[in-house]
Amino acid sequence: MTDSTAFDVAHIGSVELLTPEFDKSLWFFRDLLAMRVVAEEGGSTFLRTWDEYELYTIKLTPSDAAGVGRTTFRASSPEALERRVAAIEATGLGEGWVDGEVGTGRTFMFRDPDGHSMGIYYETERYVATDDKPALKNQASAFPGRGVNARRLDHINYLAKDVEANGEFLADALAMRESERIRNDDGKFAAWWFHFSLKSYDVVYSDDWTKHGNRLHHIAFAPDTREDILKAADIFLENGIHIESGPHKHAINQTFFLYVWEPGGNRIEFANAGARLLLDPDQPVVEWSQEERKKGQAWGMKTIESFHTHGTPIV
Ligand SMILES: [Fe+2]
Repeated sequence: MTDSTAFDVAHIGSVELLTPEFDKSLWFFRDLLAMRVVAEEGGSTFLRTWDEYELYTIKLTPSDAAGVGRTTFRASSPEALERRVAAIEATGLGEGWVDGEVGTGRTFMFRDPDGHSMGIYYETERYVATDDKPALKNQASAFPGRGVNARRLDHINYLAKDVEANGEFLADALAMRESERIRNDDGKFAAWWFHFSLKSYDVVYSDDWTKHGNRLHHIAFAPDTREDILKAADIFLENGIHIESGPHKHAINQTFFLYVWEPGGNRIEFANAGARLLLDPDQPVVEWSQEERKKGQAWGMKTIESFHTHGTPIV
């Protein structure tokens, strides 16, 4: 049975992306995804999607190599934050409190066993629209009406040397619930999907064949509709962005998807996440076998080879 602490974390707060092509990456997120620059601090640029209720969604940081920096998670209350910090400290992977960035309050930093940097906070500042006021008061800012119109961040998929160890860590540390997983013939998990709320996944671990550690598979943004994802493919084609796979429908969790590589090399997905909600608080985990996965995606498209080999940093 699910207990109430399973809702201690509300959602992913933000993701820091590292890029060796800063200007081009900034163009990708700002001009093609229609994200708004909200702050520039310490060499990084902070951008928000149009329906982000907090101040920022991603932090873009120049770096020698592509990859992922800090991922933050928003606790659902001050008490939930204290509970999660105690749970993280019990794992021995806590790193201590730091000041929050761009509107977020004090943040407790930690790392997963694979080395990915993470932080958890509760206090946050709500975005107040100025020249981007929406017509309807139930959205954070005006619909941009240009490019891909990325509405919100949807999920993050990390590569990990040991999918089980990292999944078990997050289940303990953040009280995440598992939704689906792939078990290979050797008994090891090839990938493991976790969720915080009704959405069927927020954080995913996939096996890193390089066994490098601290690598990113992709982050995903949600536009409004499947049609928006088809239009996004045309926009990326027109702008010379590498389209890696899709548009197609995932078998696992049934999201409609498109994968591209932003100019810095990080894989970015556009996913329509409303397809399948987990309303059952005791939803049993769905496990897929290696044989079942060989059938490919929902409508039969085989998973592209680079999906198993490309990650950032590239090693
Ligand atoms: Fe994804």
